[in-house]
Amino acid sequence: MTEPRTASRLRPFGTSIFAEMSLLAARHKSINLSQGFPDFDGPEFLKAAAQRAISAGENQYARTQGVPALNEAIASWWKRGGGRDLDPHDEITVTSGCTEALAACCLGLLEPGDEVVCFEPFYDAYLADIAMAGATVRAVTLRPDAKGERFGFDESDLRGAFSARTRAVLLNTPHNPTGKVFSAAELTRIASLAAEHDAIVIADEVYERLVFAPDRPHVSIASLPGMAERTVTLSSLGKTFSATGWKIGWAIAPPDLTAGIRAAHQFLTYASATPLQHAAALALASDEGEAYVGQLVRDYADRRRYLADALAELGFGVLDPEGTYFIMADHTAVSARLGADHTAVSARLGLRDESGGPADDFAMARWLIEHAGVATIPPSVFYHDKAEGRRYLRFAFCKREETLRQAVERMQAAIGTSGVTRPR
Ligand SMILES: Cc1ncc(COP(=O)(O)O)c(C=O)c1O
Repeated sequence: MTEPRTASRLRPFGTSIFAEMSLLAARHKSINLSQGFPDFDGPEFLKAAAQRAISAGENQYARTQGVPALNEAIASWWKRGGGRDLDPHDEITVTSGCTEALAACCLGLLEPGDEVVCFEPFYDAYLADIAMAGATVRAVTLRPDAKGERFGFDESDLRGAFSARTRAVLLNTPHNPTGKVFSAAELTRIASLAAEHDAIVIADEVYERLVFAPDRPHVSIASLPGMAERTVTLSSLGKTFSATGWKIGWAIAPPDLTAGIRAAHQFLTYASATPLQHAAALALASDEGEAYVGQLVRDYADRRRYLADALAELGFGVLDPEGTYFIMADHTAVSARLGADHTAVSARLGLRDESGGPADDFAMARWLIEHAGVATIPPSVFYHDKAEGRRYLRFAFCKREETLRQAVERMQAAIGTSGVTRPR
């Protein structure tokens, strides 16, 4: 093939890791615990509502900021979650998933040369969006705390990431891939530094409802004193209603920030799929929608417990995720054990690096696909400093119970158990 003609600002990002791992998973007929989409369908009432909207002729361009019913439903959803009263038409913009909202924020609100403070590991689109806007990232690394219970950040790292050029903080809570839910105290520290530097906060809250730890409720940074006027809150329908393919997202922001977001949104997509917006309005505003989310969270809580315990028994180091549908598991004990037991095999597969250290995450992910038929994500791709991520694998548990059980059985057969049982 002739050289790809990709523009220089996008060349460093290559192919998305999700596409790459999904391809490898398909080739090896693996169970796909890599990309974060459910292997079950979204609710019937949602599909029926979209079909009704199509039959009723809701098939032309929507208003650029969203169909009125959806903007109103998002305002009432936000209020029910403890948010302030919003003007649904001037402070909410419906986008094609949170992915488009992120791009619209970066392109519509950042200047070339601006700096954006981000917590790593980061969702992969962040770096590309910031680069497309000509801005640069200042990364703050999330690491397990001293007790090994939760991911956290170093206060001095955070302060050190701010400078005179800081224009924005791009925050994701609940956080993919660590499962961290930022506490109110942590958000207060971020908010005060943002205010001190007159920076805006772009808060990606797509997992807002998927939280499992009673002592870590989800808090929107926009709800902290003085933050509503400098915060854009992003979310989407996909995770909460098991409809990731619908790509209906939104951005909530005061009118001055909304103006920048819409300046970009009108030229990125202009509007999102009309019939799906009508169905989304029903999901966000109905008792049926609320009942669906309640049951989904209970189901995910059970699946999280099952997979976290099973991974720990296999020898992975697991910090229970407080939110999202991901587990970041430390594979070093497992890969070291495999290395000891299968030296020849692991050497051939590159399971140990040249220095004899533990396998990196790519080698371990490849090994799991080829030997256990289970696909995961190697999270070093989500770090600036790749070494920070090489000890982990990311497992998605937004799958049917049967899928998770099969994945665990396959890993048990390939790896064996460590003999460790987690205290409950
Ligand atoms: C943190 C985060 N932000 C944004 C997105 C994209 O959301 P959407 O599918 O609504 O575009 C994802 C999807 O995985 C995500 O994990």
